[in-house]
Amino acid sequence: MPALNINGNDTALDAPDEMPLLWALRDVANLTGTKYGCGMALCGACTVQADGVAIRSCVTPLAAVAGKKITTIEGVDADRVGQAVQAAWRKLDVAQCGYCQSGQIMSAAALLAQNPQPTDADIDNAMSGNVCRCATYVRIRAAIHEAARALA
Ligand code: FES
Ligand code: FES
Repeated sequence: MPALNINGNDTALDAPDEMPLLWALRDVANLTGTKYGCGMALCGACTVQADGVAIRSCVTPLAAVAGKKITTIEGVDADRVGQAVQAAWRKLDVAQCGYCQSGQIMSAAALLAQNPQPTDADIDNAMSGNVCRCATYVRIRAAIHEAARALA
């Protein structure tokens, strides 16, 4: 029963240490905004942040994040970076089907928290693990620049 801080709340999950964080979030904590795509760290749909770093929750056992601050899409608007990213996503109407987008936003917010003025190359590098079957990549890159401008 690892103790985590999820979106600012100390949470003791009734789940084994080896359970992937993704399942604990979705099935135990009932935070279903984080999505399952591949289950093999290949698509990024399951991206959340652990102490501000984007991680793939599908391959991260609970024991590996015990004591860390986990941020999911449900809590990303708790700071101004997450708010700016979500506002830019809405302004540029980034989402198409939407399935990949919570993971995209979590990676984008982690990037901007580390690098407030990323270049196109920085964005491509940081976002390369987040796949979008609807190919919204051009709008994602534009929205990250838009959020960076709003945060400047
Ligand atoms: S579901 Fe985790 S990377 Fe695809
Ligand atoms: S918006 Fe459809 S998979 Fe990305």
